[in-house]
Amino acid sequence: MPVVPVIATAPESRYDIHIGRGLLKNCAQLFSAYKGRKAAVVADSNTAPLYSYALMEQLHRAGIESSLIILPAGEETKCAGELSRLYESFLDFRLTRADLVIALGGGVVGDITGYAAATFMRGVHFIQVPTTLLAQVDSSVGGKVAINHPRGKNLLGAFYQPELVLIDCDTLQTLDDRQIGAGLGEVIKYGCIYDCALFERIESLGSREALMPVLDEIIARCCEIKANYVRVDPHDHGVRMQLNFGHTLAHALENAMGYGTLLHGEAVSIGMAAACRWGEALGVTPAGTAERVTNVLKAYDLMTGYPAGISSDTLAAQMALDKKAEGSKVRTILLTRIGTCKAMPLTPQALKALL
Ligand code: GLY
Repeated sequence: MPVVPVIATAPESRYDIHIGRGLLKNCAQLFSAYKGRKAAVVADSNTAPLYSYALMEQLHRAGIESSLIILPAGEETKCAGELSRLYESFLDFRLTRADLVIALGGGVVGDITGYAAATFMRGVHFIQVPTTLLAQVDSSVGGKVAINHPRGKNLLGAFYQPELVLIDCDTLQTLDDRQIGAGLGEVIKYGCIYDCALFERIESLGSREALMPVLDEIIARCCEIKANYVRVDPHDHGVRMQLNFGHTLAHALENAMGYGTLLHGEAVSIGMAAACRWGEALGVTPAGTAERVTNVLKAYDLMTGYPAGISSDTLAAQMALDKKAEGSKVRTILLTRIGTCKAMPLTPQALKALL
């Protein structure tokens, strides 16, 4: 069973990502450090009926008393009202700083639960059990936790690393095709920006059906890559921004179309294809890269063209609001070839001309 270490700020802050099949039914021993403490398990209305029983049984075996908190499924849950409800539940359960909070679900559950864990009594022990492919390869690793504000996504947040990440690949069996696709968008991203061999492996597997049997290894490689970025730049001041390849346009699309119309990974797929075309137009990305990346995205049933009905004015205006702006320029990640990339500040006018 692969174990990927993450060192976020100092060697003593190391935590491990355990990846395997059937892990949720066989993880009691991984909780041994918390024997005698309490655990608040936070799931949503999708993940609670599927996985909470198995996880709480393992906690019980490890000598940990647990209580289940169920949030409504969906992005709207990442709000101040639900956060306050979480604090109430922690208080009702008499959770203390010695105790632990476990996020059992996808990115939404991980983000709001992590933010609650970071802030409740100035921080309690936190464990991530991601159950979507996107959360397994990206959001559960690296400590970004947040809730949304009515004026923007993830505007209230913190860097708060989990102490343990448990990835049970069996949870992917209950995901629908769109959710798997959204995760694959992020998987392909790692190949594009960091690991040409990973990209070529995905390219030669050529379809979701061929990739699924080796997904454990692919998830482990993505976690290793993410861990490398987090080790070098835990607070996202420099190289970690490369993880935003495809995200300038993706965030603009998600905003313009209304959150939830496109899944994040679907929007990232469109954004990556566009960033390759932009890179070629600017002479940064070698000719032919856009076609190659687009073909791989299409082979995995991901979208690569601009959705109909959204004007370039709207997209350009949205991109100008990007959180990664540098003065009036938007830091856009472009491939220098498959497997390496760099950030390039572009004016909103330049981005509009590229659209
Ligand atoms: N999801 C991008 C990051 O963790 O930096």
